[in-house]
Amino acid sequence: MTILPGNFARADPRRGTEENDLTTSTRALAVDRVRKSFATGTVALTDVSLTLDAGEFVSVVGPSGCGKSTLLRLACGLETPTAGKVTTSAASTSYVFQDATLLEWRTALRNVELVDELRGAPKAERRAKALGVLELVGLAGFEHHHPRQLSAGMRMRVSLGRALVAEPELALFDEPFGALDEITRLQMQTELQTLFRLKRFAGLFITHSVSEAVYLSTRVVVMSGRPGRIVADVDIPWDYPRAPELRYEAEFAAIAGKVSAALGQHA
Ligand SMILES: Nc1ncnc2c1ncn2[C@@H]1O[C@H](COP(=O)(O)OP(=O)(O)O)[C@@H](O)[C@H]1O
Ligand SMILES: [Mg+2]
Repeated sequence: MTILPGNFARADPRRGTEENDLTTSTRALAVDRVRKSFATGTVALTDVSLTLDAGEFVSVVGPSGCGKSTLLRLACGLETPTAGKVTTSAASTSYVFQDATLLEWRTALRNVELVDELRGAPKAERRAKALGVLELVGLAGFEHHHPRQLSAGMRMRVSLGRALVAEPELALFDEPFGALDEITRLQMQTELQTLFRLKRFAGLFITHSVSEAVYLSTRVVVMSGRPGRIVADVDIPWDYPRAPELRYEAEFAAIAGKVSAALGQHA
């Protein structure tokens, strides 16, 4: 497997075959009764089962240290389960971190181009694609800026652009907006939702924010404290696009309350 910053394509042994449980062609990820313990003796996850279909955007909320990042690393093959099985049908997977993890010496454009450059795509093609993606994430006019010349929100947009340029079927997000100020964060949530509507990757999104999870997702999964296990799986009823004002409606508060209650009971 070749791992590129923020994005990688792969040919890996976890890809679905007829014998395993990827029975529908729309299933992007299946985590089946997974336990993960480390050599240190820490048990990070126990008996975690989760499926993710194309067109789903699933958020995972849980106390710090409950194994959320471990779950994402298992989903993309950076870790292997101690017991149980992780299967994916996604031809390409992207990974967005809390830190934008950009190369400081490359412009926004050349950061987004990097993935295709490493794959050996012709220059004109990768440039045209990167320009299109930068426009999509609202960075038209900033293509030639270096990361230090951009705000934190803009750097995260570059990071999202870099993740999307390879048209991932599975997109993994590890608290990508956790370090942003509240106003930028709300804006980024709306923008990510737009990207999801356009691209329809299967999304697995880690966050500490219950409201962010409910606003963005088709489902919210709640994990217990370590060793992490899934204690609630809440369907979110609204179609997209979702207006930012949805966050202030009574039904939103009721669902967020349900998620918070599950978190509180199992912290
Ligand atoms: N490579 C590792 N070796 C040993 N322990 C680890 C390793 N990675 C994570 N852990 C431990 O596993 C637990 C879960 O970590 P993590 O998945 O990062 O939690 P979260 O993302 O929910 O905060 C923590 O106790 C952490 O210290
Ligand atoms: Mg984490």
